[in-house]
Amino acid sequence: MKTTIKKLSEHVGKTVTIGAWLSNKRSSGKIAFLQLRDGTGFVQGVVVKSEVGEEIFAKAKGLTQESSLYVTGTVKEDERSALGVELDVTDVEVLHQAVDYPITPKEHGTEFLMDHRHLWIRSKRQHSILKIRNEIIHAVNEFFYTNDFVKVDPPILTGSSAEGTTSLFHTKYFEEDAYLSQSGQLYMEAAAMALGKVYSFGPTFRAEKSKTRRHLIEFWMIEPEMAFVEHEESLEIQEQFISHIVQSVIKRCENELKTLGRDISKLENVKAPFPRVSYDDAIKMLKEKGFDDIEWGEDFGAPHETAIAESFDKPVFITNYPKDIKAFYMKPDPNRDDVVLCADLIAPEGYGEIIGGSQRIDDLALMEQRYEEHGLTDDAYKWYLELRKYGSVPHSGFGLGLERTVAWISGAEHVRETIPFPRLLNRLYP
Ligand code: 4AD
Ligand code: MG
Repeated sequence: MKTTIKKLSEHVGKTVTIGAWLSNKRSSGKIAFLQLRDGTGFVQGVVVKSEVGEEIFAKAKGLTQESSLYVTGTVKEDERSALGVELDVTDVEVLHQAVDYPITPKEHGTEFLMDHRHLWIRSKRQHSILKIRNEIIHAVNEFFYTNDFVKVDPPILTGSSAEGTTSLFHTKYFEEDAYLSQSGQLYMEAAAMALGKVYSFGPTFRAEKSKTRRHLIEFWMIEPEMAFVEHEESLEIQEQFISHIVQSVIKRCENELKTLGRDISKLENVKAPFPRVSYDDAIKMLKEKGFDDIEWGEDFGAPHETAIAESFDKPVFITNYPKDIKAFYMKPDPNRDDVVLCADLIAPEGYGEIIGGSQRIDDLALMEQRYEEHGLTDDAYKWYLELRKYGSVPHSGFGLGLERTVAWISGAEHVRETIPFPRLLNRLYP
């Protein structure tokens, strides 16, 4: 009977066949241990010469790393294995014998591994991270589906910039100029006026020459937008959303988190509500922590975010930033015109900003004033203004960066390991 590694424990005592690759092997004159993987998991196959005979044993012993196989054997309980089973191999059929697989069990440098990313993703660690990514994607869709959000797909080719704060990738759109989307937000605002609560989940492009462990050139962003939702309610939805993602991963990716050596106690704590710190108080905290030269009105860099996050054991919202360092569409605080109703959510353990969000300006006159201040005379934005002309309502939204979330939850040092084929400042290959 054909099955997968993940399902082996359902077949204890039975003889089954799996399609697998050989990830590693140890052998002596009498016994061979095959480390097998099939995408659903990893399992050890044990080949005993006295049981399988000379010919099969010789075949098993001669297997090379990453050869593809059909392995037949009897499923046996084994406490030491992550899946609780191993396979007593009775037969091995070689589909393809791999020659000189470049990624051996020894240590390799990062650049070498990145050049071989198409193969590196087969390793146990990368496999675990990509499985966690998948679980996060699932949890995101599950959260929004159960809370009556409609998934809407904004365009990727756009005629103008959405944020005004980041650089864009330019391309030709026949005779016109076009840009790869750096955020679907403006389109999602239109969608919220049609469907109430919406979210997008798609690729996002930023042509900033950033080379940090948090920046990708191409990343995936989840952008909810909610009609009739004001700032504080949006923060409550954000904390519920993040709690749901983290708790789902803990529940469904136990083996993967263990493989990665992730300290789960730090994640278990991630349950709503999350602390909120105003930008004003964040400045005070930073000064107390020895950042003497930070002044009110300046944006925070990674060291500032990390310093603030260190005071909490959960993600923390930094709210109400100065208007001048945030995007043109953010609604001013009704009590103070110099700050806006926005929040960045900072992940613990130095992973930095994972969410940026705000309540949007819904007043036509104020939005027109912002257009002028930002020089948005371009016709490309006319439609966005019209949303404030026909049944404008208070509304809020936010953007969650998928890769930073994967990095934080899986404990990966750098976002390059959190997406199958990262696009980085100096890397478009493979
Ligand atoms: O803070 P950002 O730029 O916000 C927006 O684009 C808003 N329009 C979202 C909205 O309100 N609908 O980006 C949101 C998140 C960041 O918090 C971060 O997690 C991620 O996107 N992000 C990046 N992730 C990887 N590499 C980059 N270069 C990123 N830039 C932003
Ligand atoms: Mg931001």
